[in-house]
Amino acid sequence: MKFFVDTADVNEIRELNDLGLIDGVTTNPSLILKSGRNILEVTKEICGIVDGPVSAEVAATSYDEIMREAAVLAKIADNICIKVPLTLDGLKACRALSMDGHKTNVTLCFSANQALLAAKAGATFISPFIGRLDDIGIDGMDLIREIRQIYDNYGFETEILAASIRTVNHVKEAALIGADVATVPASTIKALVKHPLTDKGLETFLADWAKTGQSIG
Ligand code: E4P
Repeated sequence: MKFFVDTADVNEIRELNDLGLIDGVTTNPSLILKSGRNILEVTKEICGIVDGPVSAEVAATSYDEIMREAAVLAKIADNICIKVPLTLDGLKACRALSMDGHKTNVTLCFSANQALLAAKAGATFISPFIGRLDDIGIDGMDLIREIRQIYDNYGFETEILAASIRTVNHVKEAALIGADVATVPASTIKALVKHPLTDKGLETFLADWAKTGQSIG
């Protein structure tokens, strides 16, 4: 499973990239707002930090405007992935961009049929939003399971990018189901390493080691 970090904060991205833990980045208009940076500047900086795909989202709804914005975003760097909304115009743009050799991420997916359409439009990634479904009392993991089944039934190459991940359990469940990628907030990626028995065991080993009076090397 690949990990993308879901942020436009370059400090978080640099730290996780240095740890070797991330394969890409996803941003959206809300994350750009939170960063307080200009979208073109911050996205260019992010593309220089990571080798993998960096999703940058258009802020348009009509096909022509999506294509115009996509052309601007695509010029930022070779590893840009154009993020388009799951609408008819967004799917049409996804098809055109994919045919043109661009990586695409179809975002705001909340149903298996939407994911089927995105795959037929040639999307590189489909982004089902787990947390936002959980928020309204629908199990977001059921959607990941349904999309996995449909994509496997027909051999679609579109990668399932589990998004709107809020907890470490979301990561585990998405991995068990077979999502290709999880885009995860930096704090949740770092929380994956935590286990009280690891901390306790390490404490004991270090205390016992000190009692041996030895040193290595
Ligand atoms: C990723 O591409 C999405 O924009 C993101 O995961 C949304 O997460 P949220 O529902 O926590 O805002």
